[in-house]
Amino acid sequence: MEKTIKYIKFEYMESVNTGYKIQLYLTVGFILVITGGVILIKEDLDYLQPIEVAEGIYWVGFVDVNAGLYCNPYLVVDGEEAVLIDGGSRAEFSTVMLKILRTGVDPNNIQRLIYQHYDPDLCGNLPHLEAIINNPNLKILSHRENNPFINYYSSKSPKQCIETMGFAYEFASGRRLEFIRTPYSHSPGSFITYDCKTKTLFTSDIFGSYDSNWSLHRKLFDRCIDCSPQETCPLNNKSCHLVEIEKFHRRIMTSSKALHYALEQIEKLDIAMIAPQHGSLIESELDRKAVIKHLKSLEDIGFDYFLQDQV
Ligand SMILES: [Fe+2]
Ligand SMILES: [Fe+2]
Repeated sequence: MEKTIKYIKFEYMESVNTGYKIQLYLTVGFILVITGGVILIKEDLDYLQPIEVAEGIYWVGFVDVNAGLYCNPYLVVDGEEAVLIDGGSRAEFSTVMLKILRTGVDPNNIQRLIYQHYDPDLCGNLPHLEAIINNPNLKILSHRENNPFINYYSSKSPKQCIETMGFAYEFASGRRLEFIRTPYSHSPGSFITYDCKTKTLFTSDIFGSYDSNWSLHRKLFDRCIDCSPQETCPLNNKSCHLVEIEKFHRRIMTSSKALHYALEQIEKLDIAMIAPQHGSLIESELDRKAVIKHLKSLEDIGFDYFLQDQV
């Protein structure tokens, strides 16, 4: 961290008023002032800090108030190397970068930026990241279907297609990230990333949710696996997390066929934790099974959902 502060000086000021309004001042040669980030604290965790969710994996996320989404970029750190997965939006660049700095990682040690598809909520801050990361070896990893669109954010850093890399990236230590295609869930080039060391699966928009009651480590009840979800959970009178996940997938995914294909790929893996780009971590086998079971039961997804809505 000290090494980082030598060339990147930041000041951080937090003011929590009645609306939990936070002002961040990040000085990176110049001062960016961003006002209006809102973080609702639902548990004891300090969401202003990076949160280590598995060995060497840090949540460096933020809330997108306008979209009603919680967004989850992840920094994977292995020795002197780091890789950032689904880096975040332009508006919340300072939030993500502040959290990266607080992990103690020197941004110059970020070797790869992985983009599992090309939406602005995960690619928007790409030019800002490139401006900070002073690493001639920096590359962008994605699928070739995504790269033409990622070029609209920046064409500065070389782009690698996961297909030409044998669908894997290896750190110097041998730690291996494997890439699995999930086409049309929800973009043609969508893929997911599996960390073989911790058995963490980064699923981008798959397993995302709209959250009115968010926490990073949100858990389901054991009974959820046999439940017919309702808007309000009868067990705690709060919004049903399965329904929130359902609503997200109905709108964001293209079809039940594409989603079922993706879920079948996921079911083949030995998973300890699912780390989606929105919503909460899925950390138990029971929760994972409950969510997959519910998503597989849905027929009207994407365009079929639109048609159903017209009836
Ligand atoms: Fe997306
Ligand atoms: Fe997203």
